[in-house]
Amino acid sequence: MISRVYIFDTTLRDGEQSPGVSLSVEDKKEIARALERLRVDVIEAGFPVASPGDFEGVKAIAETVKDVQVAALARANPKDIDVAWEAIKGAATPRIHTFIATSDIHLQYKLRKSREEVLALAVEAVKYAKRYTPIVEFSAEDATRSDWDYLAEVVVAVTKAGAVTINIPDTVGYTVPQEYYELIRHLVEALKKADLYHLFEEGKVCFSVHCHNDLGLAVANSLSALLAGARQVECTINGIGERAGNAALEEIVMALKTRQDYFARVLGQPLETRIDTRQIVPTSQLVSRLTGMIVQPNKAIVGANAFAHESGIHAHGVIMHRGTYEIMDPKEVGWTGSAIVLGKHSGRHAVRFKLESRGWKLSDEDLSRIFERFRQEIKDVLRAVADEYLEGVLLDEFLGEEYRYVVSAAYVSSLYGAPLNPLAQVQVLDREYGAKKAIQVGVGSVDAAFKAVAQALGYRFLGKEDKEPVSDHDLRLVDFHIDAVGKGTESLGVCGVVIEDYQGQRSAGLGKDYDIVAAGIKALINALNRLEAYRSKGEELKRKLAAKAA
Ligand code: KIV
Ligand code: ZN
Repeated sequence: MISRVYIFDTTLRDGEQSPGVSLSVEDKKEIARALERLRVDVIEAGFPVASPGDFEGVKAIAETVKDVQVAALARANPKDIDVAWEAIKGAATPRIHTFIATSDIHLQYKLRKSREEVLALAVEAVKYAKRYTPIVEFSAEDATRSDWDYLAEVVVAVTKAGAVTINIPDTVGYTVPQEYYELIRHLVEALKKADLYHLFEEGKVCFSVHCHNDLGLAVANSLSALLAGARQVECTINGIGERAGNAALEEIVMALKTRQDYFARVLGQPLETRIDTRQIVPTSQLVSRLTGMIVQPNKAIVGANAFAHESGIHAHGVIMHRGTYEIMDPKEVGWTGSAIVLGKHSGRHAVRFKLESRGWKLSDEDLSRIFERFRQEIKDVLRAVADEYLEGVLLDEFLGEEYRYVVSAAYVSSLYGAPLNPLAQVQVLDREYGAKKAIQVGVGSVDAAFKAVAQALGYRFLGKEDKEPVSDHDLRLVDFHIDAVGKGTESLGVCGVVIEDYQGQRSAGLGKDYDIVAAGIKALINALNRLEAYRSKGEELKRKLAAKAA
């Protein structure tokens, strides 16, 4: 038995069939190039007969990529196969993938054909496709709900007709790992009985698996089929696909790599793919961006939280040794590293680690003060927070008394629905130079208010048209968010703001108010106070605290 597992990516065919997804030809080419860099073995580029757009997409991909096979899907009839060939004939290595359903429910209600008729159509389709290319794959749609002996008959017949890959799809995500294992073994036995086993053993005929995720078992079923002898896995980036999706490529590849020991123990040899795993995250992000299908944060391998640790015990473990809570190196799949994120569940170790990574060395006593203050500050914040919020708390603790600005009045008038822009008037008490006022209009209330604060204090927010800061008074708004704490219209608005100055120095501030514009103004003033305190006394404070800690 060969140890090589072939990765057949169907993101651009089954993945593109996800509700709401529609890719342009350019998008498809960009994804195909990314899949080529990822080093998948086969790209299923589409279903050319489905529409002129599909045809164009497949043709363009076939002519774009070189170091990967390009497959086109076709039902088991000459017209589909002719069109599929027309679309992929320009590929360096073209593959025709023809299919017909084999389950009784599909035969009776969809195809309205007998088992004998379907068997004959399957054989004819394979023979017909072989006239174009030696690389012909046959799929028995809804294989897992088909009669096993009839399915075995079809498998033997299409093998004799010349199919080199025989796909056993779990079209409706119905099977479970042990059952799927037994089904693949049953089909291998059928090849033995038909005296075709040598083809399977030598890798000249390959069983492929194609699992849908209706019961959340697509990856587990695919891995089980590999243990039974399948050597091609059909999968999609981020697991996108019809209904609950297809088996996720990244999960299969990383399961094979991370648990190589297990597969080697059971099979007597490790299973290998040729995937460049460092391309996984960039490819996932590209597919998510172009399809508009957001990757859930807790998605294995590619979700934003897949290598993020917030809770005290876990963050401590990872700081001491990554292996305590991580079974893969995030860099291996294309992330920049593990992320210790700060939030409500953060412990002292994470707080110390974050401050040290920003150059702050603290005594145990000072660390305790900052830790308590930080917990208090973010108790109403519903999300993980940027590291700058922690640094801001430290500045509040040691330099807060000297902060320069206090919001003394803010008035924002918004005439919604009128053709007028919102107007904001603010008054800030500058402890050095007295009260400062400004009035600004903006595209929205927050925009007007932030522009007014900036103007009053001699700053300017960079607009869309400003690429780079041109003066030391220029600021960029890096992040702005509001969470509603409590229920209903009377909930408290908690606003977080991160700004960046002309030197790239970042500062974060929080503001709370029942009025969200007021919460925003407070957050901005908080961030500006911290920024100015850091600029004038930050380095000196670092030295003082480090001396105390020594
Ligand atoms: O799910 C399925 O059965 C398919 C086939 C066309 C391979 O997508
Ligand atoms: Zn499918």
